[in-house]
Amino acid sequence: MARPDPHSFRDDTQPVVEHLSWTARADFGARTLDAVAELRLRPGGAGRSAPGPLDLDTRDLAITSVTAGGADAAFELGPADPVMGSRLRITLPAAANAVRIGYRTSPRSTALQWCTPEQTADGTHPFLYSQCQTIHARSMLPIQDTPAVRFSYDATLQVPAGLTALMSASSAGPGDGGFRFRQQQTIPAYLLALAAGRLEGREIGPRSTVWAEPSRLAAAAWEFAGVEHMLATAEELLGPYAWGRADLLVLPPSYPYGGMENPQLIFLTPTLIAGDRSLVTVVAHEIAHAWTGNLVTAASLDHFWVNEGFTVFAEHEITARIIGRDLTELQAAVGRADLEADLRYLAGQPELTRLRLDLRGIDPDVASSHVALEKGYLFLRAIAESAGAARFLGVLRDFLAAFRFRSVTGEEAVAFFRERLPGAVDYGEWLHGTGLPAGAPAVTSPLLDAVRAVGQAAPAPDVAAAWSADEWQVYLAGLQPPVPAGLLAGLDERYRLTASANPEILRLWLTAALRSGYRPAVPAAVELLGRVGRLKFLKPLYDALAGSPDTRVLALECFERYRGRYHPIAVTVIGARLGEAARGDARPGQDG
Ligand code: BES
Ligand code: ZN
Repeated sequence: MARPDPHSFRDDTQPVVEHLSWTARADFGARTLDAVAELRLRPGGAGRSAPGPLDLDTRDLAITSVTAGGADAAFELGPADPVMGSRLRITLPAAANAVRIGYRTSPRSTALQWCTPEQTADGTHPFLYSQCQTIHARSMLPIQDTPAVRFSYDATLQVPAGLTALMSASSAGPGDGGFRFRQQQTIPAYLLALAAGRLEGREIGPRSTVWAEPSRLAAAAWEFAGVEHMLATAEELLGPYAWGRADLLVLPPSYPYGGMENPQLIFLTPTLIAGDRSLVTVVAHEIAHAWTGNLVTAASLDHFWVNEGFTVFAEHEITARIIGRDLTELQAAVGRADLEADLRYLAGQPELTRLRLDLRGIDPDVASSHVALEKGYLFLRAIAESAGAARFLGVLRDFLAAFRFRSVTGEEAVAFFRERLPGAVDYGEWLHGTGLPAGAPAVTSPLLDAVRAVGQAAPAPDVAAAWSADEWQVYLAGLQPPVPAGLLAGLDERYRLTASANPEILRLWLTAALRSGYRPAVPAAVELLGRVGRLKFLKPLYDALAGSPDTRVLALECFERYRGRYHPIAVTVIGARLGEAARGDARPGQDG
């Protein structure tokens, strides 16, 4: 097949990008990057190099020049597809093994958020950051934006005086033209990442610096001090870490994800800084991606579970070795509750509950749910429980070794495990079935059972006083709306849940409360929606507000008021959900 990735214009008979040299200047006034991308090419699948066409992915780029071998090359920018963007077709002259493209990004680049000082923690300097996963690298540069292609890169990023620039690469220090970077390993385009702001770094481990705005640095350094323990544990489990440094970056509050596994520079939402290290398993998750995702990479978004399912599995294995199985099971239970909520939301689109997806023509961000993460995790856990944990971990290590620095489809991954652990589970049903298979593993542990025993009642004060943030999350995730108003008021009165400083507890509490018609939750939800841009919080809160006739208009007003604060990805995803709700075709079971 010439176009194996449903979200890329790449034709796999054409040459392949093997190295990117990128120079970009950030213009905060115009909200554009003025850039030159030089792509070094090697012959593609058909062994054909130049002459001939080279198709690249772009979105909203203004192409100013294309040269190959020093001479202008003909190019043609195709029409804009709403999901995929525009194909840039370059006609390569004979013997060209590189192409140089001058261009400017759009202020509406879907990868980039240009934050004003007011949108940062400190409020003193502007901040720019990228989020290229899933298919947004193409709005930052012309590239083969498919995880089936890997390339190394070097880059120079010029930013205004007073700002520090970082990328998903080794820093080569500030040079004349700006901050310089080099990524020597090959990566897929979605792992390109940049940030620029008033940033300071503090060393928190032998290979880790945490970067944050000055006012957040001390708290971040304390919160994430366990990073080396996590890295060392991951190495015991999965093999040597391939990426050299493992730095962390705390983003502004609008960051749309909990974390992102950008190589050598994990991106983190500031909402993880709870002051008690209760949310740091997100760091373990992103560290695990250094193996599952970044070394062995899902071949396209149709196989996204290969990235996320293996990573949730590895995250829990790392966490279990650090805090024990019993506590780790609490987190697995919260993941299971998140999965069940998404399965209810997707009741009208069961095809999106398969691990193996067919996302042709579908925006992968809008289709994204906990299915890839949590159903993927349960699939692997089912194999491990059936075959035995030690055997499974051995095969997992062999799998990582076999596909290192390569991309892999779900079918290839399943074939690998099926061959070595035949009959462990019904592999076909897990891969292709909708919903959850009947025999899906049950998450159990003594701590978990104790919380579950409280059920739909209020916990006894002495019991609740001893609860960790994870136990609260399990309890709140287990509440089935509509929860009686008296119970909600009593819980809120005693435990001040509407004022919780832990955003994970807050999102579960507010979601249950809103779905139960508990009015005091409304202003608190609106406040949270205006303060953070993390999709894990935005989705359930907007859904809950929009799902009730009393607050539907408020949800739309809120989104109009706050959309300017969110990252473009969050605007698209929430806009799509509210559009559905506004048209009155909210999914069945959404309130359940
Ligand atoms: N790679 C994902 C973030 C992502 C997911 C980007 C889907 C684009 C589309 C990241 O590793 C992740 O899974 N983040 C989670 C937290 C994690 C601990 C489950 C998140 O953002 O909530
Ligand atoms: Zn992940």
